[in-house]
Order: sequence, then C-alpha cells, then structure tokens
Amino acid sequence: MTDRPRSDALVFFGITGNLAYRKIFPALQALVRRHDLNVPVVGVARSPMTLDQLVDRARASVTEHGGLDEAAFTKLASLLRYVTGDYADPGLYDRLRTTRGEAERPLFYLAIPPSAFSVIIENLSGASCTAQARVVVEKPFGRDLTSARALNATLHRAFPEESIFRIDHYLGKEAVQNILYFRFANAFLEPIWNRLYVESMQITMAESVGVTGRGSFYEETGVIRDVIQNHLLQIVSYVAMEAPSPIWTEAMRDEQAKVLRTVRPLSVDRIVLGQYRRYRDEPGVTRDSQVPTYAALPLFVDSWRWHDVPFYVRAGKCLKTTCTEVRVDLKHAPAVVFHELAPPNGNYVRFRLSPQVVIAIGARAKRPGEGMSGEPVELSVVDSPGLGTSEGMGAYERLIGDAMAGDATLFARQDGVEAAWAIVDPVLRAPRPLHEYECGSWGPAQADSLVADVGGWA
Ligand code: BG6
Repeated sequence: MTDRPRSDALVFFGITGNLAYRKIFPALQALVRRHDLNVPVVGVARSPMTLDQLVDRARASVTEHGGLDEAAFTKLASLLRYVTGDYADPGLYDRLRTTRGEAERPLFYLAIPPSAFSVIIENLSGASCTAQARVVVEKPFGRDLTSARALNATLHRAFPEESIFRIDHYLGKEAVQNILYFRFANAFLEPIWNRLYVESMQITMAESVGVTGRGSFYEETGVIRDVIQNHLLQIVSYVAMEAPSPIWTEAMRDEQAKVLRTVRPLSVDRIVLGQYRRYRDEPGVTRDSQVPTYAALPLFVDSWRWHDVPFYVRAGKCLKTTCTEVRVDLKHAPAVVFHELAPPNGNYVRFRLSPQVVIAIGARAKRPGEGMSGEPVELSVVDSPGLGTSEGMGAYERLIGDAMAGDATLFARQDGVEAAWAIVDPVLRAPRPLHEYECGSWGPAQADSLVADVGGWA
C-alpha cells in the first residue's frame, strides 16, 4: 500500500458511454456502500444531458447490473455532477474546475477513444488541473508499440509515472488474483510448475455475445487489441511468473514484465484468425471489414522454467459459451503399468475464471469393478455464488479504490504494456487469412490443427 493521500474527486471522461453504464456506476455504488467513496464524482461527456438525466442513467445502470441499493445509490446521486462539452474546448476545463469545487487532488479517468487522449491531457495541463492529480487510462493503451510509446510520452508531459494508472480490469478480478494466491500459497505445485512436468497450457476467453453495439469501437480494435494484448497476456504473466518478493512494491510488476519480455517472437503463420458470420451486419461495422473477432495462437515463454512449453491462447466473440479458463496440462505417466494411458492422460490443473470461479485438478482413478481400467475424475472447488466477485468486490470497484488510494500494484506498467505490444505487433502487421465461423460454434475449424498434437482444445 501507499501513504500517498487519497484523491479527493473522481472526474470521469466518457460518463455516458458503454463502460460507465455496464461497469462503472455499479462499481461506484459498491464503493459508496463500503464507505470508500465520499468525494464529488464529476461526469464529463460530449452528449448534452442534464444532471437529472445522468442520475436516471446511473440508476438504470445499477438496476440492470447487480441491483439497486437505494441508500447507497441516493448517496452516490448526491455526489454526482455533470459537465458537458467538446473535449477540445478550453471552456470545458474551466467549467470542470468550477464543478469539482474545493478538490485539489482529482483522479481523472479517461474512458474515451484513444484518439481523444492527447487533446484532453493537453487541455487539463493547460488549465493547470494536473498538479497532484492522478489519471486512469482505459485499455487498449495505443494501437501498437509505436502508438503506445507516443501515448506514454503524452501522459508523461502532464503526469509523473506514479500518478498514471493503466487499467486492465482483469488484474482486479478476484479469480485472477486467485491464480497468484493458489500458485504461491501451495508448496505442492512448485515442483511440477515447469517444463519438466507441464506439457502445454491453454488459455481461453470465450464470449457467446457478439460486439453488443460496440461495432465502431471493435472496428478500431479487433480481438487482438481488445483482449489478447492485455487481458490474456496478463493471465499468461500470472501463470508463468516467478514468485514476487514481498519487500519491494514493484516486484509483482517486475515479474510480470519479465515474463512478457521473455515471450519468443510469434510465428505469424501459426496464428488463426476468424470473424463470426454476420459481424459485417453489426451497426458501425463496414461491409467488407477484415477485423478478426477470433484469434488462436501458440506462445512460448523462453525462460529457464518454460522453454518449449506451448501456451495456446484463444479468444473470440459469438462462441458457443461464455467462459474464461486456464488449463495446465501435465505430462502423462508412462504407459507401462497401465497400457490404456495414451495421451492426453487427463492430468491437469484448471482455473476457471468466469462465469464461476473454479480450481480443479484432473486425474485418473480406477473404474469400479474387476479390471484395472480407469477414467478421468476431477477434484474441484467451485465458488459460484459470488460469480467471480467474491464478497461483492468487482474488478472495477477494487481498481478505482486502489487508484484513488494511489496504489498501482494491480495496474499495467509501461514496460509490461510495451512488451505485450511487441508480442502482438507482428500479428497486427502481417496479413493473415480470415476464416468465417458460425455464431455458437467454437470458432474456425482451422484453429483445431494448432492443438492437434496435444489432444485438442480442452
Ligand atoms: C473488455 C473488452 O475489456 O472485456 C470486451 O473490451 C470484453 O470486448 C470484456 O467483452 C470482457 O470482460 P469480462 O469482465 O466480462 O470478462
């Protein structure tokens, strides 16, 4: 933790947008409920709207996403303010200063298209709003390595590094934190958590929904920028990292960055890209769009621990189900005593991150009866009631609270962000065939050949 003072206002750019509606208002209500938010919340957006309309929108948001807590919401509504205008108009920033009242250490949260970052930061700086302030930047941080560096330079013109919070909400998820906890709180895993015992890993982020009204955002991002460069590579770093030292506050982010810097350059010809049928009919999407909504790729972490162990990563929209899962497949027992043990042998560790939180160990056990033949069994711990938000702490609630307290441990650091762009940059540049797939399927069949040697997708 940090002894820096808490931010004394939250100024949210993009308050009328999709993210605020789905995630931020519910997180703010939850922060109020746990008495962690008692400062002005100033919404900023281009849409003309009255404060009452904004409060109505916030009420609809919390009602739809998690439930209305009348007392907490009434308090949140009393903290809300609204400032509207063109982000390029200096007058907007004068109004902002007046609206946030006495606050001297605001937290600016930029949930706006990356193309608007520079103009906002320059205007905040020009209006002398940035001294003692902090800034939260939503992913994707840039569009590639070059633009990520440019964005970083823009941020640094107005904010020192310790005041910049690059948010990746996966890092705030209880279930993702649990990967770390489970790994480093249980000694039995350590001897097998390496290339000697692990055959391969699979990291899947499947979503049954399409782009849900975010067609124009998705046209600028695509699956690689939207979730692979950030969420999935963060998961890779948690699964593969060395134990962070508890005595150095940056140790966790150092270890994450080390993993990402060690990833072998991708073989672009092994990457499978897909686009779901009818994606081009979505509002905001061009009729001949080449934007992938699915990607599957093998990664190799060239460290002493992981050399030559494939990490198969896949993500897609409009797939058969919604779930995020890490599966660590272990090498098989020799088929000496029991000849039935052809690979895959069903020895694995599985972390289901959503919708339920599951930690499971796969093994084989004898089938009851005369013969010595077995079957796969799974020992699992399931936490469904919290649906990944144990004790009611959702990712955005945790992360906004941390940013207001000045604690950046669960935020991406620039070197990690750059290492992640360096991994995916070749895929973004090289033209690859785009395979159409049916909604409700597991993506293009071409992705199956990637994992043919390890027994297919889990
Ligand atoms: C966001 C992506 O960062 O994460 C979305 O932009 C995706 O496309 C979402 O749907 C998934 O987050 P979660 O928390 O619902 O798994």
